[in-house]
Amino acid sequence: MKLRHLVKPVSVTRVSGRYLTHQKGLPTLPVPPLQQTCERYISALEPIMEVDELKHTKELVDDCHNGGCRLLIWTTGCLWWCIQVPGWSCPMNFRDKQGQIRFAAKLIAGVLDFKTMIDNETLPVEFMGAKPLCMNQYYKVLSSCRIPGLKSDSVVNHAKDSRPPTHITVVHNHQFFVLEVYNSDGTPLTADQFCVQLDRICSSSSQTNMEPTNKKSVWAIQRSIFTLCLDGAMPQVSDETYRSSAAVQMLHGGGSQWNSGNRWFDKTLQFIIGEDGTCGANYEHAPAEGPPIVALIDHVVEYTLAQELDTKVIVFDHFGKNIPKTHKMSPDAFIQVALQLAYYRMNQRCCATYESASLRMFRFGRTDTIRSASSASAAFVKAFDDLSKQNTEKVDLMEKAVHAHRAYTNMAISGQAIDRHLLGLKMIALEEKVSVPEIYTDPAYSKASEYKLSTSQVPSKTDCVMCFGPVSPSGYGVCYNPMDDHINFAVSSFNSCSETNAAHLARAVEQLCRT
Ligand code: COA
Repeated sequence: MKLRHLVKPVSVTRVSGRYLTHQKGLPTLPVPPLQQTCERYISALEPIMEVDELKHTKELVDDCHNGGCRLLIWTTGCLWWCIQVPGWSCPMNFRDKQGQIRFAAKLIAGVLDFKTMIDNETLPVEFMGAKPLCMNQYYKVLSSCRIPGLKSDSVVNHAKDSRPPTHITVVHNHQFFVLEVYNSDGTPLTADQFCVQLDRICSSSSQTNMEPTNKKSVWAIQRSIFTLCLDGAMPQVSDETYRSSAAVQMLHGGGSQWNSGNRWFDKTLQFIIGEDGTCGANYEHAPAEGPPIVALIDHVVEYTLAQELDTKVIVFDHFGKNIPKTHKMSPDAFIQVALQLAYYRMNQRCCATYESASLRMFRFGRTDTIRSASSASAAFVKAFDDLSKQNTEKVDLMEKAVHAHRAYTNMAISGQAIDRHLLGLKMIALEEKVSVPEIYTDPAYSKASEYKLSTSQVPSKTDCVMCFGPVSPSGYGVCYNPMDDHINFAVSSFNSCSETNAAHLARAVEQLCRT
């Protein structure tokens, strides 16, 4: 197959209007044949699935391209939609329950971290010019609630009770739950433990036959440290109206047919997380003005971002892209196969792997996925530490893996990869409100979409490296820049995941040269 690598820009003269003339000449993205996508999908699953799991998926896929899939008729034009709709080509937010839960878990941890400063009275004092400000409001926003009275309402604060509250209220599907957030020794639960509890709450929120114990329930809500609202869907809106509609969601939940039933408006502080990633807070104004609330939100946002990501940047200085080139191998493919090997040696299994492929040979093209875990790479990584295999055989397997990767790259950058096509078809089904084919509800599709390795080459002329976070809670983000004589890697993982460790993967890459 002919090589089509990216050519670096050449800017000798500055020609006005060059952009538009050149843009018009670019082809539009092709839509691959469905049968081809189906076959390639099965091949992509081979290295990450068990044989019997794959058998079932093959049947579903056969059914799909043999006419069982009504989406066939919409195939034309779907990729065009993919690049037009923000978030399809470049993920904009989380769209699954797990993403919502994980974010909620981090949010709880962030609020509790702020609460520690309130509890031990270590909040930094604010100033107006040189004058210190009253900080009393900060001490009123948690564990508070407005209580309706016959003539006038009052505000209660339970923070200074002899036994202050140790729970929050979680609301989902218009049902209220108590979640204990501290262990018996007073330490807060970890983000992973919150995930487990929130998962349970979401599962049981569909049961509506629970005993109503109104007085006790209201008391639990009023005393709780804060309320966490895990919202369901909101009406679809355009990008222009998104912010306004998000504000409405925060203010009142959009009415009883949407999420208003997930609120307790007397509660001083309610954090709201939508299933599409929209998040914010609703606060009852009586105990405090806006600034303490915003300070708390700032802390939570910084805490959830800053505390969560573990990043390790390394310079792999044994060699750079010149060495694979001398051996007539694509450096990018060589690096991807090396990443497969490093991951396999750490985990004894292959994983769904994402590499961005540029679609910019096409007008308005963004990216598609190069699935770097292939049958060829699996054969190589499994053989690498196998003492019964000869070195010549291992070298042969490595070359095959590198060539398979480059072939996938060529296919992807020509608009013939599978992922945007499959995603486009699914989104069209959802929009057209037709039933989504079973291949999308099959566990194989979830497994294939959970990229434990999310990778990208971002080359530069100067010696630098970009970095980004993982796309799966138990995955890695790996960005690299192959220079002539060394390779810069930025590896990231989430601190809350005990299975992953950015420094370990970075070390595993470095150690490949010592074996
Ligand atoms: N023998 C000798 N040399 C080879 C070779 C071979 N078999 N295969 C490739 N090379 C050379 C190329 O000629 C090129 O040479 P250069 O350094 O002189 O330019 C060099 O090796 C790099 O090629 P390769 O490593 O194969 O990568 P590439 O430049 O073709 O890039 C992708 C591959 C997938 C990274 C690229 O196609 C792409 O899609 N990039 C965009 C990714 C993106 O958008 N990332 C952003 C996400 S936010």
